[in-house]
Amino acid sequence: MSETMEQRRTGSVFGKPQVRIDGRAKVTGRALYPSDEAVPAPAWAFLLTSAIARGRIKRFDLEDALSMEGVLDILTHENVGSEAKPPKQMAAGEPTTTLQSDRIWHDGQIIGVVVATSYEIAREAASRVHVHYDQEKPAASFGSEGAEEEVRDPGEHQDYAVDDAEGAFAAAEVKLDQFYGTPTQHHNAIELFTTTCVWENGKLTIFEPSQFVYGLRANVAQQLGMDPGDIRVVSKFIGGAFGSKGGATPRTAWIAVAARRVSRPVKLVATRDQGFTIATYRAETRHHVQLGATREGKLTALRHEGWELTSRPMDYNVSGTDTTARMYACPNILTKVNLVHADRNTPGFMRAPPETPYMFPLECAMDELALELGIDPIELRRINDTATDPVSGRPFSSRSLMQCLDQGAERFGWKDRDPTPGSMRDGEWLVGWGVASASYPTNIAASSARATIRPDGSVRVQIAGHDIGTGAYTVVAITAADELGVSPEAVTVEMGDTTLPPASLAAGSSHTATITHAVAKACRELRERIVRAATTSNEGPLAGQAPAQVVLSDGSLTAENGATEALTEVLKRLSVGALEGYAENIPKGAPSDGVNMLYNGAMPMVRGHSREDVTAYAFGAQFVEVHVHRRTCEIRVPRMVGAFACGRIVNPLTAHSQYMGGMIWGLGSALLEKTEVDPVHARYVNANIAEYHVAVNADVRQVDVIMVPEEDSEVNPLGVKGIGEIGIVGVNAAIANAVFHATGRRVRQLPIRIEDLL
Ligand code: MOS
Repeated sequence: MSETMEQRRTGSVFGKPQVRIDGRAKVTGRALYPSDEAVPAPAWAFLLTSAIARGRIKRFDLEDALSMEGVLDILTHENVGSEAKPPKQMAAGEPTTTLQSDRIWHDGQIIGVVVATSYEIAREAASRVHVHYDQEKPAASFGSEGAEEEVRDPGEHQDYAVDDAEGAFAAAEVKLDQFYGTPTQHHNAIELFTTTCVWENGKLTIFEPSQFVYGLRANVAQQLGMDPGDIRVVSKFIGGAFGSKGGATPRTAWIAVAARRVSRPVKLVATRDQGFTIATYRAETRHHVQLGATREGKLTALRHEGWELTSRPMDYNVSGTDTTARMYACPNILTKVNLVHADRNTPGFMRAPPETPYMFPLECAMDELALELGIDPIELRRINDTATDPVSGRPFSSRSLMQCLDQGAERFGWKDRDPTPGSMRDGEWLVGWGVASASYPTNIAASSARATIRPDGSVRVQIAGHDIGTGAYTVVAITAADELGVSPEAVTVEMGDTTLPPASLAAGSSHTATITHAVAKACRELRERIVRAATTSNEGPLAGQAPAQVVLSDGSLTAENGATEALTEVLKRLSVGALEGYAENIPKGAPSDGVNMLYNGAMPMVRGHSREDVTAYAFGAQFVEVHVHRRTCEIRVPRMVGAFACGRIVNPLTAHSQYMGGMIWGLGSALLEKTEVDPVHARYVNANIAEYHVAVNADVRQVDVIMVPEEDSEVNPLGVKGIGEIGIVGVNAAIANAVFHATGRRVRQLPIRIEDLL
């Protein structure tokens, strides 16, 4: 693969701004989201969900609902319990099952499925089902009676102990010792959680928005006891996922069972409030951070202990100490993550799953330490910058943190900041400037791809990747165009379907690196086939030329001596229907049977912090100005600057949108977003987007994105680090730091609201 990079031609489309190849389809409504797929004569499902958070179902009164005209079936644990096993989830522990038993683990758990001839009838019938419960007192959150704390079982995430952090902290000249917290948050993608299931001759087709079609297929196959080859999952367009559509959830298998029982396709579009409990969300977290430093600002001790809220039976955790332990040079490090079980649904990935909640306390603590030391917060980070991973001692493949901080500071005008809190004003508004670092590990997974060229020169690329709104279709087209010397618009890309060559989960900022490497390899395979055909042929201007000297570019093959032939001429002369290239890409450190693993729904991913040769991370810097009204304490964010160094950028246009979207979400995450939990009933009380506040246009003023150039040939052959998650990381801390700078009030529990500043 390294050859691919060396051969990259000038005038290459890689790294040039490219509008989305699917943009027209999206704005004209031709892009089919899974619930838009036309299926013959569908019945409609409506989910019955639990009204209690803990206990058992005594019985259902279904007569009233079943007597309604148009009601086809009602599935409950009493009549279908054995027809599907619970899905395998991304954590240890017993899943919060639905319909397999009478047990209630959380409010809003699926306890039944009503199937009817129309959505309206199904919904009405669901309201006529009466459920009798044996209710137990639930624990809602941290500190609730009955919540159980446990030390996390070290699984994927390790706890770190480098030398003697306790001793070094006790002996430190300057100490910072604080607690922080982040709230429950929900993704609230525009697209709801939908599932449509169609059976035909014992084979099942599932239309469902998914970040991992092969994973969903394998999971449903396991649940229904089927051969995965008899299931097809289709998810061509996804209306926002952000982690919520990454893992299998219980609903899919039940809709499949429902469709089998009523012998017709069944379509489910769950409601917005159901989406809060039938899928995952960002767990509430607590943190204890201790920093020890010399008077000159050198860190001598770092301790970070986290607590994450999870469901009663499962151990899901994100353990972001993997990242916080690696941010700064420090000789003594101790990290630990604990779980707290409560009667809540199981959390999951949400944009920058570990770093959003875990970098918040570290980057606030660094700001607090800087103030204590009388050192500028950027200078404190410079003093503690490091080219080596302080945990493993391995080098970072590249690390441009200081370039990001410096370029961001320049654009933001940081040098004009008066460090004294409360010293900067704009009329009635207190002005605060805050900064924080961002980081995200560079992950990559095994993947496969196929590229085909037809005699007319049209190119088709097939890969079961996923465009979750990020621009993945376009990135694939750019990669293929680059390898085959055609324009990106000439490339047709097929993704999001298990009939295509397997690719991995679109998550963890891994997808661009993952799919571009497989696509480039497949296209190169195809290019070599074309060149070989042209040069080994008896006819044509390239006959007898050395294949290695032939360049395919701008629709022509050209030899070193200038002999040239149009690509379409070569293809015509070959008189075959189409030429094909197929390739599997197994990144360094990934299992050699990685592509087979994908068929089984496993994730052959190499994580940036678990590599044996280097530690691979992207870095960034967030700068925020806040205005806090002197009397009302209203908080506004007039401008944000984000600078990011993430290796090679395939498409600066969509990359810019990704970064910007992440930063805006960071604003929401810091100031607006919190899922409120009723402490008595352990129930979400603002499960709608009227009361769950996300940032809207009026909240967002000037957002500047700086893409700091970065070359990194260690990270992977194309030098792509991935950008999906890092844009949000650190924004919450930069805002909290800016609020402190404006007001002198340090808020360590998100979101920061007017009442915190009164
Ligand atoms: Mo991303 S939150 O890992 O889908």
